[in-house]
Amino acid sequence: MNQNLLILGGTSEAVALAKAVAEMNIATTISLAGRVMQPRPQPVPMRVGGFGGAPGLAEWLRAHAISHVIDATHPFAAQISANAVTACDQADVPLLALTRPAWTPVAGDSWTHVADIRDAATALCQPALRVMLAIGRMHLGQFAINPQHFYLLRLVDTPDAALPLPRTDVIVDRGPFSEAGDRDLLMKHDIQLVVAKNAGGDATYSKITAARSLGLRVLMIDRPAIPARPEVHDIAAALDWIVHSGTDRGV
Ligand SMILES: NC(=O)c1ccc[n+]([C@@H]2O[C@H](COP(=O)([O-])OP(=O)(O)OC[C@H]3O[C@@H](n4cnc5c(N)ncnc54)[C@H](OP(=O)(O)O)[C@@H]3O)[C@@H](O)[C@H]2O)c1
Repeated sequence: MNQNLLILGGTSEAVALAKAVAEMNIATTISLAGRVMQPRPQPVPMRVGGFGGAPGLAEWLRAHAISHVIDATHPFAAQISANAVTACDQADVPLLALTRPAWTPVAGDSWTHVADIRDAATALCQPALRVMLAIGRMHLGQFAINPQHFYLLRLVDTPDAALPLPRTDVIVDRGPFSEAGDRDLLMKHDIQLVVAKNAGGDATYSKITAARSLGLRVLMIDRPAIPARPEVHDIAAALDWIVHSGTDRGV
């Protein structure tokens, strides 16, 4: 069958996959949520914006005669991933997730695990600290219950509105970052605690290794639950799935 692939993107893995399928001349569209003001150039045609929940995505798949969907979104993008499971089921389109394995602590790490962002904010109900809050822009408001801390924020875009936190330094940058650079950053700002999502992958791991080398504590936000779906961790396996899977389910 002729493939007509939809990649749910927003990650470096999605870009790498799009590059690989473009080289194989597989018809592909990559979809972005539209959170970033200037997304990186994409190697395949791009659409931007929500689909309108699982029903909207199912309708979009049918309308565009999509033959395969690869969910290469961030592991914390739980809503779109759940929608993809439901929509692909409704539209009878095979779905694969391309995910990064979660980080696991190694010797020298000092992690406290929390279940979600709300629990991370609650865990910061303590006397003032200097915190690197590496969770992106969307959920900063949840930390407003703890305005006593200094927060070092690293964001993809310059904030276009006042931040909900009174004491911040904002660094506008996008990964990949280096351990040496992140160690300098943590030292320069006298950071005592790093708050991170367990994103997995290499691009943002440097803050974790930098924290380890400086003996800093990490408040690690565990991943949200996502409904079961076939899953691979590397581009080669995803390409193999596109080439060898038809409309029957699974990998
Ligand atoms: N969450 C993170 O920490 C994080 C970090 C880096 C990159 N990202 C990327 O940023 C995007 C948004 O993340 P999120 O956590 O806000 O997602 P989310 O909570 O799972 O999704 C919220 C809604 O945004 C829309 N959406 C999300 N991803 C989309 C995509 N790739 N294409 C079209 N619509 C999409 C969907 O709207 P409709 O229901 O209307 O379809 C979805 O219901 C994702 O693509 C993700 O890969 C997220």
